[in-house]
Amino acid sequence: MAGIPQTLKGRSYTRVGAWTREELELALDLADELKQERARRRELRVLPGRTLGLIFRKPSTRTRVSSEVGIAELGGMALYVPAADLQLARGESTRDTALVLSRFLSGLMLRTYEQAEVEEFAEHASIPVINGLTDEAHPLQALADAMTIRERFGRLQGVRVAYLGDGNNVCHSLLRIAGRFGMELVAASPAGYEPEAAVVAASAADAERHGGSIEVTDDPLAAAAGAHVLYTDVWTSMGQEEEREARLRDLAPYRLDEGKLELADREAVVLHCLPAHVGEEITEEPLYGPRSLVWEQAENRLHTQKAVMALVIR
Ligand code: CP
Ligand code: NVA
Repeated sequence: MAGIPQTLKGRSYTRVGAWTREELELALDLADELKQERARRRELRVLPGRTLGLIFRKPSTRTRVSSEVGIAELGGMALYVPAADLQLARGESTRDTALVLSRFLSGLMLRTYEQAEVEEFAEHASIPVINGLTDEAHPLQALADAMTIRERFGRLQGVRVAYLGDGNNVCHSLLRIAGRFGMELVAASPAGYEPEAAVVAASAADAERHGGSIEVTDDPLAAAAGAHVLYTDVWTSMGQEEEREARLRDLAPYRLDEGKLELADREAVVLHCLPAHVGEEITEEPLYGPRSLVWEQAENRLHTQKAVMALVIR
């Protein structure tokens, strides 16, 4: 495989919108290569001796494990630090924490509530800061989603994606990456659960430039009709547990079930960022049946995250 491109060294990845289409494409191309190399059991120790710190304020299976395994496979190591164990929890400032951790670590991944916290870390750190999920965005997930769609359809532009359910962090980053690559995305959510208007507007403007389109509707059946990809995410995101009852009620018509799958394109595939709540946002058939690419999508978290780390960590 060719060497690692150097153009993104030192850059943070806090939002999909922080990277241009070409930069995101670099990550997708490298992820494809890393996947092939791994299948051939070739070691690519391009980050020897580097350490990625992971500061998480929320639980994680995929993001944490794929990042820890990913940096190890690149020859480096991971240091997982629950935020509660840092002096950050006792009032040490974000700025000071970022300044100090920059002296020890080669890169930092954060999973937290506020997007502003990730941006503040990125502002003060002299090492790349990677967003491992906030209430607003999940940009690493969006890369794995795009990789999975591109693998299946051989392209992103013009692929028709229906996102059903809560207009949340995962939906926001999916919208942004859909815009960047000219996909045709319809997000179907009930009133009060729509994706943020600013994210929709930015994604739509981008999509138009790249030959795609972004639409928001409250009609899940219209969104699913003819879609190449049906995508959903949990209805109750981390931190929203108190709203669970209302969410179960309000989002029920948006469940990704066999009926919606029947409306989609004959070759349609099902995506879900996981964790899934079977019987809530998705039923068994779409999740485990022949149209599911969910497990491939989960694996692609590893390849895309390795690509991001290899591109940004010096
Ligand atoms: N999809 C995703 O980010 O999963 P985790 O919460 O397990 O990291
Ligand atoms: N929207 C979900 C995604 C989990 C990966 C959450 O924020 O909990």
